[in-house]
Amino acid sequence: MSDQTTGRVAVVTGASSGIGAAVARQLASEGWAVALAARTESRLRAVADAIQDNGHSSLAVPTDVTDAAQVAALFDAVDSAYGRVDALINSAGMSTGGEIADTDVDAWWDTMDVNVRGTYLCSRAALRCMLPAGDGHVINVLSVASETAFAGASAYCASKAAALMFTKVMAAEVRERGVRVTAILPGATDTPLWDDMGFRPAREDMMPTERVAETISFVLSQPRTAVVDQVQVMPPRGIL
Ligand SMILES: NC(=O)c1ccc[n+]([C@@H]2O[C@H](COP(=O)([O-])OP(=O)(O)OC[C@H]3O[C@@H](n4cnc5c(N)ncnc54)[C@H](OP(=O)(O)O)[C@@H]3O)[C@@H](O)[C@H]2O)c1
Repeated sequence: MSDQTTGRVAVVTGASSGIGAAVARQLASEGWAVALAARTESRLRAVADAIQDNGHSSLAVPTDVTDAAQVAALFDAVDSAYGRVDALINSAGMSTGGEIADTDVDAWWDTMDVNVRGTYLCSRAALRCMLPAGDGHVINVLSVASETAFAGASAYCASKAAALMFTKVMAAEVRERGVRVTAILPGATDTPLWDDMGFRPAREDMMPTERVAETISFVLSQPRTAVVDQVQVMPPRGIL
């Protein structure tokens, strides 16, 4: 653990739980100031307070990433607190299970809304800070489901496939303007995301969240002479 600040600032969505919380803790331990966003204020503050208790800088900004005004307020709060955004890690996400014929339209679309619209809105807001600076890194936490069809997970797979193509287009738009973009495709990771799923691998066969956080740390550690476009990180036994 470092007690040095890097002067760099990361915005992490979905930071109240699972992968996002692990990313926030990892980057804070490396000296990044971290701004944490998610809807549930109590859980968000618990993660932010633990980071501060370890002597690092954090800011909790309750945010629904599907709401454009709340996303704008998030980036305004980060600008007021830190005056810069060096990285955005889009980890806010949700999943709905069930075979297509049995799904509820609103629950199906909620998954698209958070995983696609939320990723778009936060990326757009971050690019508005990063492009004028000619520097920055947007990392989208997608899934092996971006490229693999899982029966019973149509909304999740469709949303993650859409978000992967969105990420590739974003990379094509900004790669010559100093901003780097990375798609992270994790396999099964032990988080509350699985709690409400009709099927689930054994928890002990999933990856701990720290493995995904360390992958993101590696991606961010690359010098400006390289960009990791896409990385798939899996539990050792593969797709479960
Ligand atoms: N777990 C896995 O096996 C796995 C594998 C591959 C990819 N992923 C991806 O990893 C990302 C993180 O998932 P996780 O596994 O860490 O799940 P998690 O523990 O359930 O965390 C999801 C996070 O997203 C936040 N969130 C949900 N809807 C939101 C909204 N509308 N606005 C803002 N924040 C919202 C949640 O907080 P609030 O509910 O308080 O808002 C929570 O902080 C997701 O994109 C997921 O698809 C997970």
